[in-house]
This record gives sequence, C-alpha cells and structure tokens, in this order.
Amino acid sequence: MAFMQKDILGLRTLNQEDILEILDTAKLMKYILEQNNKKTPHLQGKSIVNLFYENSTRTRLSFELASKYMSASAANLSSTSSSVAKGENLIDTCRTIERMGADVIVIRHPMSGAAHMVARHVKSAVINAGDGMNEHPTQGLLDIFTIRESKSAVQGLKVAIIGDIYHSRVARSNIWGLSKLGAKITIAGPSTLLPPELGKTGVTICGSVEEAIEDADVIIVLRLQKERQQKGLLPSLREYSQIFGLNKERLALAKKDVLIMHPGPINRGIEITSEIADGIHSQIEDQVTNGVAVRMALLYLLTRQRRK
Ligand code: CP
Repeated sequence: MAFMQKDILGLRTLNQEDILEILDTAKLMKYILEQNNKKTPHLQGKSIVNLFYENSTRTRLSFELASKYMSASAANLSSTSSSVAKGENLIDTCRTIERMGADVIVIRHPMSGAAHMVARHVKSAVINAGDGMNEHPTQGLLDIFTIRESKSAVQGLKVAIIGDIYHSRVARSNIWGLSKLGAKITIAGPSTLLPPELGKTGVTICGSVEEAIEDADVIIVLRLQKERQQKGLLPSLREYSQIFGLNKERLALAKKDVLIMHPGPINRGIEITSEIADGIHSQIEDQVTNGVAVRMALLYLLTRQRRK
C-alpha cells in the first residue's frame, strides 16, 4: 500500500514499508539535488511553514531549501520573533498558520509530544523537526538513508550509538528506525545518561564504548547536549572525552570500512576528535546533503495525498 500518512511525528509509529518508501523517494530527490538546475515543480502552489521554538541550522535550512527547490512557498517563524513572545499558545499559533493556507507545518519544540498535539488540532500535515527528548524522525531517516547509500542494506549491520542517549531525540528515532530495518544496535555512554526504558527496545547496552564499537559497521556519535544537562549527570568534559569520546585508538576497534556519523552540531574534541570528524570514514557532510533529499521526499509524499 502506498504512503498514506497525514503527518511525520516519529519513527516509532512508522512501519517498515513507509520508511522504505520515504528512503526510495529520497533517492530520486538526491538525483535532482545533484543536477545543475535543482528547481522542480513538485510542490508548486503548496505552502510550507517552519515553526521553530529551538535553535537550528541544518533542519530549518534544509526544510526551507527543500521547499524552495520544489517550488513551494516557504515561510519561517521563530518563537522569539512571533506572537508566542506575547503569550500566544502553541495550538492558537498553529491554527493561525493553518488558516493562512499552510499545507505543511514543520515544528521544533522543547516539549516532548508537541508535534503530536499540534497534529491533532490542524488539518495541515505536521512534520516533527524535534520534540524535546522524544524524537527527531527526519534526522533518523537521513541517517538511515546515509547508511543505505554506503552499505546497501541495513539488515544485520552492527550500529553503535555512543554518548548522551538520555537527552537524545536523534538516538530514539535511530533506535526505532534502524531496528525496524533489522540492524543490531549497541549503545554506550555514561550510566547517568542511559534511560532505563532502553532495555525494552531490543538494543544491547554495553559497559564501555570499546565493547559497543568492536566490529561495528556504523558508529553514530551523539552531540553532548550541554544545554540540557542537570548537575551530577556528567563527569567533567575532559573526563567525558577521555572515557566516551571517539578517538583514533577506539576507531581501530571497528570494522575497516566503518561509517562515522554525527547529527551535528559537533563539539569538536569532546565527543569526537577533529581528526575523525574530518577523516576518511566520516559521513557527516554527506548526512547534511542527504537531509535535504529526505526532507524533499517527505514534503512531496505528504502533499501528494492532498493533490488526489
Ligand atoms: N541535527 C540537527 O538537528 O541539527 P540542527 O539543530 O542544526 O537542526
């Protein structure tokens, strides 16, 4: 059955068939991105509004460029420059955006579940661009797309996710998405930053980074979210880097053709050394490009429903 979702809220609730259709569509979009003339009429007459309550470079800009490449009207609203700063609530803000004709509302919000709540109150399609510590599905999809580009299939790959899992919506979306495609996931990080519910997801929780990355096909290094840390959760940044950071010695434990990924922005010298972030195994810049292709695919698939 073809893709019929109204919204993209998380990979937990998306089935394998839908994930594969998004990834296959993104492959076509990547082909368009590689042309001299990137402009296509796929979203002609459609309006996309980016509503960001948290900072973003990659996600917001790639949604905006994806919209423009496909000939949609794109508008951006941030909480600091909107009537949110005067006390308008999230639902009223989104209903206002809907009544201006938005076909898709892309929302990033610090509260887990914010995108789900909006989706229940508007007819516009809603894309979750990151909700609190819950999910960041478009990042998960672009990560899986990047893995598939290099490794063909995800089934049976060992994917290590390293770092601050507790605060990471990227980790959660990757765990849901990669598990659905048959990856074997290992996790390592400070014990204070490993959420207890992880055990139920089928991932292997490792006692050390070394154990998690041994023979790994892919290593996803997470950003240490300094802005979300409470006291006592972390050793010093220096100790964090020494015990959990990805460096040359640790990298040598993984497979020779390992892919190194990071959602960005990077804290260079803390969770990953510059040598590795910029090295031959790094997919970090490809992830950024693939983010545009995946977001083009999502905007196309969600608005295609409305064209019928
Ligand atoms: N990976 C990611 O979400 O980056 P931004 O915060 O820059 O969007």
